[in-house]
Formats: sequence, C-alpha cells, structure tokens
Amino acid sequence: MSANPPDPQPTPDLPRHVAVVMDGNGRWAERRGLPRTAGHRAGMKAARAAVEHSIRRGVGALTLFAFSSENWSRPAEEVGVLMQLFVEGLQREVRQLVDNGVRLRFIGDRAALSARLRESMRSAEELTAGNDRLELFIAASYGGRWDIVQAARSLAADARDGRLDPALIGDADFAARLSLGAAPDPDLFIRTGGEFRISNFLLWNLAYTELYFCDTLWPDFGAVDYDAAIAHFAGRERRYGRTSGQVRSGA
Ligand code: FPP
Repeated sequence: MSANPPDPQPTPDLPRHVAVVMDGNGRWAERRGLPRTAGHRAGMKAARAAVEHSIRRGVGALTLFAFSSENWSRPAEEVGVLMQLFVEGLQREVRQLVDNGVRLRFIGDRAALSARLRESMRSAEELTAGNDRLELFIAASYGGRWDIVQAARSLAADARDGRLDPALIGDADFAARLSLGAAPDPDLFIRTGGEFRISNFLLWNLAYTELYFCDTLWPDFGAVDYDAAIAHFAGRERRYGRTSGQVRSGA
C-alpha cells in the first residue's frame, strides 16, 4: 500500500484529531501542599472539560494519555489511586458520554489492568459504540513502542501463517494494526506541564503532527488554553516534506 504522506492542502483552522499528554498533576498538588493523588483528581476534571471543549469546537477525535507503560513504576499507592480513579471516573462519566454523543475507546495493554477495570472499559466501549460526535481514545497502560511491537507481532504471525507476503507490507498495513487503527493521525499534539518530550506516546502516529507545548499544569488547562493550542495549529503550514511554494500552489 502507499507510503506517501497526505496531499498538500491549506491547513484547516481546526484539528480533526488532538492528542494530549496531561502532565503536571503532581506538581499542581504539591504546590498546594496536597498529596499528588489530589492532582490526579483535579486532572480528571480537566480531562472532562477538554472532552466538552472538543465537542464545542467540533474536534472529531481526542486521545488522552492517562497512564503510560512506564507509569507502572510509580509508587504503588499512587498507581492504586489512579486505577481507582479510572474505575470510578468511568462509572460516573459514562452516562454523560453517551448523552454527549461520545464514542469511547481504550488503547494500551489491557492484560496489565485489573479484571474490574477491564470490565468497566469493555462496558463503556459497548455503551458508547453507536456514537459519532467525538471519538475519545483513552491511552491506559499504553506505550508507543509497545504499540509498534504488538503491530509487528500481528503482521509477523500473518506472514508466518501464509496470509501475508512480507514484501507487500506497507505503511497503511502497519498503521491499521496499531491501536488507533483507522482513526486519522493526530493533527495536533498538546503537552502541558512545561516538558518538551513525547514520552513514548503514539510514536508512529505523530510523524506529521503539529506539536504544542505549554507551561500550564494539566489541572489548570481550560478552554482558553485549549483555544490557544488550536490557534497555534491554525497558524502552522503543514508541508509533509514539500516546499512552501508547492503547498501554496497546491502542487
Ligand atoms: C501526569 O502528571 C499525569 C498522569 C500520570 C495521570 C493522568 C491522569 C489523569 C489526568 C486523570 C485521569 C484522566 C482520564 C481521562 C482517565 P504527573 O503526575 O506526572 O505530574 P508531575 O509531572 O507534576 O509530577
């Protein structure tokens, strides 16, 4: 299949797909003399607001990095509270997601999660499966390298069993086996919390994504910050390897 980047066209004002590293919960709490877990609770509210603002602005897909493969090495108590938050948050929010037309899906290594959380995830995915106003992907126990490895394993198994000719494997075949599957690549990546890193998020899918970093700590990230990120995106010229002249002339 084709390995070509998308055809050049003027950058639309609105990203179709936004991917977010929600960083800064711990520092937000520590600055208030609170336990780090209070920051995660506040972060959950900011995530809810980001979902609502995505709908308001007409963004089609939102991917939130809730828990990375590497976050398993945090103190057991913090991991436990995060997992508890995920279960409670899902149970509390799912009705609102259904009403708001949000389709929820999870990406990441589910085998590492508790049976209770996996069941809440499955049920929320099922309940929201008919929605199409916003596609919400939550990355939990997710790592970009894990994602690439699991896609490679799946292709290798098909090749071994004679279902696939390795010589014919192209970009699109690989992308289809990644966790985001048929979703468009993110147009805009946002990282809050002042760090300039991708931190093993969506390594393949971010190849041509516009990157936006801000100092705001995630619990403080609201509609004004989100709009600033969208305005940054609207001001970018996406060239996909071509020249600026080619993009302007549509060549
Ligand atoms: C990074 O901040 C944040 C996390 C590891 C957890 C993110 C989780 C939430 C925002 C709540 C759940 C949200 C959803 C959508 C399920 P940090 O703890 O690394 O902050 P720090 O860099 O200030 O220490």
